[in-house]
Parts: sequence; C-alpha cells; structure tokens
Amino acid sequence: MNEPARVIRGRLLIFDDEPRLAGDKAMRLIEDGAALIDKGLIAALGKASEITAKAPAGARTDDHSGKLILPGFIDTHIHYPQTRVIASYGAQLLEWLQKYTFVEEQKLRDPRHADMVARFFLDELFRQGTTTAMVYCTVHPESVDAFFAESERRGARMIAGKVMMDRNAPEALCDTPQLGYDQTNALIQRWRGKGRLDYAISPRFAPTSTEAQLEASGALAREHPEAYVQTHLCENRAEIAFVRELFPWTKTYTEVYARYGLLGPRSVFGHCIHLEESEVDLLAQSGSIAAFCPTSNLFLGSGLFDMRRLHAHSPPVRVSLATDVGGGTSYSMLQTANEAYKVLQMNGQSWQAAQAFYQMTLGNARALGLDQRVGSLRAGAEADLIVLDPGATPAMAHRMEAVKGDLAEELFILMMLGDDRAIAETYVAGRPVKRGTI
Ligand code: GUN
Ligand code: ZN
Repeated sequence: MNEPARVIRGRLLIFDDEPRLAGDKAMRLIEDGAALIDKGLIAALGKASEITAKAPAGARTDDHSGKLILPGFIDTHIHYPQTRVIASYGAQLLEWLQKYTFVEEQKLRDPRHADMVARFFLDELFRQGTTTAMVYCTVHPESVDAFFAESERRGARMIAGKVMMDRNAPEALCDTPQLGYDQTNALIQRWRGKGRLDYAISPRFAPTSTEAQLEASGALAREHPEAYVQTHLCENRAEIAFVRELFPWTKTYTEVYARYGLLGPRSVFGHCIHLEESEVDLLAQSGSIAAFCPTSNLFLGSGLFDMRRLHAHSPPVRVSLATDVGGGTSYSMLQTANEAYKVLQMNGQSWQAAQAFYQMTLGNARALGLDQRVGSLRAGAEADLIVLDPGATPAMAHRMEAVKGDLAEELFILMMLGDDRAIAETYVAGRPVKRGTI
C-alpha cells in the first residue's frame, strides 16, 4: 500500500492554538502553500515553491490552488448503525429510540449487514471530510468487528465500541453485565492499538444499564485506562426524570456515572444540555468531555447546549463538536457547525468561524487527546487532510465575490453554506478517498 510521495498544493490553514483564547495569533494562512506527504505522514509544510523543491523525484502533485487545505474533520460522537435511522419523523428521544433506533440496530446482528453499513458509513464520512470519529456500534460484537475491519482496511484513525445495554431495550439488543464485560474485554484485546484504531467502552446511557452493568463498565475503564469511555448525559428532560426513577439514591444524572468511575479525561458525554451546577463541576473537575450535537438537539427537540457556561466554569469543561447521526440530521461537520452557530445564537452566544474550524479539527483532536497525531497541519502529523472549495456551489461562489481577501468571512460562508459539495478532496493517511476507496 506504500504510495509515492505526494505534494498537495493549496492554501494551508494552520491552527497553532484556540482562537477564542489566543485571538489572531491562533491561526495562520499560507496562501500559496503545499504539504509534502510521505508514508502516510506530513513530511514537510510551507510555501509551494519550497516544498516542490524539497519533494523527491517521482513525487506526484495534486494542485488545489485557490482551495483551502485543512486537517480532516473529527466527529466526537456518532452512531454507525443509525445510517438508516437518520431523518425518522416525529419523536423525542425515548420514543425515537424505541420506535426507530432499536428496530434498526437489531439488523446488525447479521455480520453481512453490519459490513455493508460500515462500508456505507465510512464512504459517507470521507465524502463529508471527516477522517476520524468516535463511534457507537451496536450490542453485537460482530458490529464492532465489521466497523474496525473496514476502518483498518482503509487506514483510518477511528475510535469505536460495542454498546452495552441490559434493561429498557428489546431482548435482542440486551447483553448482561458479565457478557458485556467479557465481550468488551475481548474486543479491546482484538482491536485496540491495531493500525490506527482505539476502543471506547460504551454503556449506552444510564437508563439502559443496571447498576451491575455500570459497575462492570467502571471496572473495564479501570482495567483499561488507555481506552476511552463514551455515553450519553442530560440530553432530554424525560430521560433525566427516568434516571431519577431508576437510581433513586442519586441527586443528579452525572452522579450516577461518577459513582461507577466513568468520568475522566478520556470520557466523552453526548449532549450535556440540562446540567445542574454540581454536574458541570463534576465534569469540569474530572476533565470529562462534553460533545455538543446541535443538529440532533434541534431535531429531537432536546434543548440548547450552553457553551458559554461550560467554557466559563472554573476549571472549564472540555467541549467538542459532533454530529450524533442518526439523531443528528447531517454527516457534514460544516452543517453541524452551521447549526451550532444557530443554537448558540438562541442563547445570545456567538461563535466565530475561526473558533468553529478550530473546534472541528484541532479542538476535537485535543478533546480526544489525539492532537499529537491528527487535527493539525504539522510536520510529523498523520496525513489526514481535506481540501475545501469556497466556491463549490453557485450560491457560494456568488457570495464569496463580496468578501474577497477576508478569511474570516470566507470561513463563515463555508460553514453556513458548505456541505459535502465543498469538500473537493479528502486524504486519509495521504491517500485521496473522497470518491471511494479500492
Ligand atoms: N441516548 C441513548 N442512546 C442514544 C442514541 O442513540 N442517540 C441519541 N441522540 N441519544 C441517545
Ligand atoms: Zn448519541
């Protein structure tokens, strides 16, 4: 699979820091730039003339002059078995799970179906410029095997895990505390650290796990401190009331996860909308990560994520941005940023385009502790890159005419009007994959 070296030429957008905190210094643009890619890594970056001079004989050049080159997008919360759930009409969370999601997830018991869905899902992520994601599979270990095998085949950096559920779900989707523990252990042994893969211990959410299963999940997290944990938290008011009924001893939802040792700097909590102050504090003190899923929160009528509150807390809560497909309605991180902007507007909060693009790349990489590998244009980083076309559609090209030379406006237009059409190319480990893989 070793390819000749490749020069990718275009406008390099480089984040060195977080624009919200570091201001203008956080972001640099190399207008006529290039990245030299070799053996799946970024070997060098700089002005196109310098990089072309450095490139070994036989290197091919992909000329994307005029287009923006960024690190691939990172999605911190998405469900691959829900590619046939996305856009299911008319329900809020708990009904939506029963009526649509749990029905579709049962089909992934069949490894051939899981394989087909995994292929579709990865094709779609790459088409949308997403090169790394933190992914829920189903309760079936076969669904995890299918996803990891396909990710490995494509050389993609992916994090995923088998969902654990042992109550309040159809019998066919339930494991037991022991079975969930044993299967998760076996999957961690089989896949964690293979190629670019990592594992997320995945109790779905407190309502679908008994205390014994949460206990087993905490044991897994303790025994595999290098693995991630992912689950859902405070998404919907009926869900929170249900948690209070199921765990009568608890004052808050977050306390349930805290009791079983599931908070921490490698734990990603989807949604985090309706949080008490003590819950914000638990998340902050533990270094846990909140995943803001705007299209899902709007689609399921869940509520408005309060970014300012989480950032302003002392210490701050670590925040990431995610699609949450199939509760989310788009695979596109650009469209996700678009809806995030509107959610924040509803609470009188703003979000500069530079901050949004930081979040989709380096910010999400930092949230997952992956910033030494992906999420930035840096020599030595893995060569997961995307090429964005600011004039991808007539409406975008027309709008761009009014803001020539203004990068902040250009980025804002990209995130408001852009989608898969704005992704001119996606490179995974240095190979172009937007139009499918071999
Ligand atoms: N809470 C528990 N499971 C899910 C899920 O699949 N999607 C969303 N949005 N919330 C959940
Ligand atoms: Zn989710």
